[in-house]
Amino acid sequence: MDDYETVPFVSREVADVVVGPTPSTTCHAYTQHAQAGVVSDGNERPSWGEPATTFQYLLFPGGYNGRFVKGQEWYQATEVAEEYEDKRFSGGGRLIDRREKQAVLDALGPVEDRRILEIACGTGRFTVMLAERGADITGLDISAPMLAQGREKARRAGVGDAVEFLRGDAARLPFPDDHFDAVFAMRFFHLADTPGAFLSEMCRVSREQVFFDTFNGTSTRSLYNWLLPMGSRLYADEDVDELLADAELTLTDASHDFVLPYGFYRSLPGSVARPFRRADLAVGGRTIGDTLASVTYWNAHV
Ligand SMILES: C[S@@+](CC[C@H](N)C(=O)[O-])C[C@H]1O[C@@H](n2cnc3c(N)ncnc32)[C@H](O)[C@@H]1O
Repeated sequence: MDDYETVPFVSREVADVVVGPTPSTTCHAYTQHAQAGVVSDGNERPSWGEPATTFQYLLFPGGYNGRFVKGQEWYQATEVAEEYEDKRFSGGGRLIDRREKQAVLDALGPVEDRRILEIACGTGRFTVMLAERGADITGLDISAPMLAQGREKARRAGVGDAVEFLRGDAARLPFPDDHFDAVFAMRFFHLADTPGAFLSEMCRVSREQVFFDTFNGTSTRSLYNWLLPMGSRLYADEDVDELLADAELTLTDASHDFVLPYGFYRSLPGSVARPFRRADLAVGGRTIGDTLASVTYWNAHV
């Protein structure tokens, strides 16, 4: 067992065939498929039948590049995907959703006809918003249930044909170099065990711009991090400076926000949360606010 690495696996076919700890010939064949990057064409009914609703691991010797994401299994469950937005972005959580969308719009600027990739797009909160504004947008995520939510959202918004949702692994993006004008990821880097590997892959497929957010180690988030289902990787500014330098990205802008943690806002009805948000913004406008902020939005150019 020690000779084998685990890889998050992504198709029902592998789930049905590979059982137990011994890698098989079949396993190697599907490993190649997984390593190619695209794990299905993103349709709700791929050619092999229903998409997997539970997540399993494929074991195989060598070959895997060792890029992991915390909680990757978590998002494979249909009920987690169905509840994802309600749990985070209703009530006081709406203020967070609004702020994050503004951060994406501010960073990307005018998006009409820009070719943009969102990695770990989840339920398509930003993907759909950008399609509505005329972007040539692709959303990629490893979870079929999260993507199903995104497709439904796009259909309801009348942009179902304008957005491409792909199921795939952000560690091996199935696109050539410089394929997009901009690539971004929201709420992903706190899950990444090897952020440098993901960032360099984003950088590879972007011609101009890379944008992402991180959760910060000096913030209130560190107080309750251990309570979260899969914890978070928390960053110091210096960590991100180093990541950007390693990826040969140049920082354009960094903005810090949310001295009060997300969980606090989520626990309140919207009308109660609003005055807290105003106070939060007032503190956030001072130097101490930058130090205590729980999230930073990083905008860089290639
Ligand atoms: C916290 S959610 C964020 C979703 C969306 N970006 C948002 O802000 O609402 C994290 C997402 O990362 C996706 N994910 C995790 N590992 C991934 C990987 N290796 N490649 C692509 N997506 C991945 C999960 O399936 C999940 O949808």
